[in-house]
Amino acid sequence: MRPIGALLGAILLVAAAPAARGGDAPAGRWSDLECMGCHQQATPELTAAWRAGAHGGAAAAVRCIACHGDRHPGSAVKARRAATCIGCHGGAGAPVARSYLTSKHGVIATIEGPRWDHARPLSDGNYRAPNCAYCHFHQAGHGTGGDVADACLDCHSSRFTDVLSDAGRRGMAIGLAKVREAEAAIAARREGMDLSDAEEAELAALLRAMREGPLAGLRLGIVHQAPDFQWWLGQAALDGALLRIKASLSRLRRRKALGDP
Ligand code: HEC
Ligand code: HEC
Ligand code: HEC
Ligand code: HEC
Ligand code: HEC
Repeated sequence: MRPIGALLGAILLVAAAPAARGGDAPAGRWSDLECMGCHQQATPELTAAWRAGAHGGAAAAVRCIACHGDRHPGSAVKARRAATCIGCHGGAGAPVARSYLTSKHGVIATIEGPRWDHARPLSDGNYRAPNCAYCHFHQAGHGTGGDVADACLDCHSSRFTDVLSDAGRRGMAIGLAKVREAEAAIAARREGMDLSDAEEAELAALLRAMREGPLAGLRLGIVHQAPDFQWWLGQAALDGALLRIKASLSRLRRRKALGDP
């Protein structure tokens, strides 16, 4: 939708937007186009960051109302709740949410969250542990890609987070090494085996599953600071996937050796 739809929308909006630079949020209910049109003037940097980020830039853009609801006042409250993010990112059972919910932050949020007053700004005085928006919309940044790490410094020392980043990089490197081992095993066994298209596809599917399942899980466990998730759905699951790929290769080789098509 982006190029033509967004451009058209922007042209229509600038023409139709009520004037609102600075000042308080006017009370009322609006459509997404009205939110964007008025906020293009009221909060131009925020709107530009949203447009350039993962939400504004998604194939089907995630617009203002999906997070904020359709009115002032109170539009920040819904957006600050973890349930708003989780509902659209696969639900509470999906890896994105599970990795957070099983972290120390998530456990604290599960216990204390029901008492948090989400009408209050996202700062450490108001929330003892971060939820999704606290980290990803730190200082109301709408870009979803940059400086999540800044949020940590509200509550932790940079020495602590530097140690974590190093450990995270090492953990990720080990995970990637397991994927490369699987690729190398496939490449080595493939030599002289003359695989059929179906057999090639089976091996490619196993590798893809290894990346999309445990390798992605490892990354989520690391970035969301969830050691159990990182281990059981990351490293240990990668070990399992690697073993399964090696077993498949042995099976294929036996089949070939026996002259089975
Ligand atoms: C007619 C102009 C106008 C429209 C339409 C408009 N807003 Fe606003 N909005 C403002 C202004 C002005 C502010 C105050 C900005 C500031 O504090 O710098 C504001 C503030 C906000 C805030 C911060 C409020 C807070 O409690 O901190 C949010 C969130 C917000 N708008 C979202 C929306 C959404 C979502 C829509 C569409 C449903 C929308 N706005 C429609 C002008 C508008
Ligand atoms: C993916 C969810 C999401 C989307 C989409 C989104 N926002 Fe927000 N927005 C948030 C969150 C979360 C906050 C609260 C940040 C905080 O409290 O520090 C916020 C805060 C704001 C604020 C208050 C800024 C401030 O300095 O306090 C404004 C204004 C705002 N959003 C406008 C918009 C507009 C306009 C759109 C559409 C172009 C939009 N948002 C789209 C999640 C979203
Ligand atoms: C209405 C659906 C919807 C809502 C609500 C929503 N998101 Fe998203 N989010 C998406 C889509 C779609 C994308 C872009 C595609 C993708 O990367 O998965 C995305 C992307 C992201 C990304 C970037 C992912 C990447 O791979 O770089 C982050 C981080 C994110 N969302 C966090 C949040 C947070 C935090 C909230 C709540 C404040 C939230 N989302 C609310 C749908 C949503
Ligand atoms: C303690 C801070 C923190 C909290 C809380 C948090 N995240 Fe994240 N999240 C991160 C960091 C850091 C990354 C990695 C970002 C990067 O590398 O750009 C990330 C990555 C992501 C991604 C992209 C995944 C990928 O593989 O690239 C999504 C989507 C996401 N988070 C959504 C959420 C949702 C939804 C919640 C709440 C259930 C949440 N996050 C809670 C810090 C946090
Ligand atoms: C709003 C405050 C807050 C923010 C922001 C925050 N944390 Fe935390 N964090 C806590 C609290 C509270 C605990 C649990 C008590 C403790 O272990 O210190 C915790 C625990 C942790 C733990 C577990 C420590 C352990 O002993 O097991 C890690 C790791 C962690 N945080 C990393 C991060 C990272 C990385 C970020 C930024 C992406 C971040 N935190 C952002 C408050 C915060």
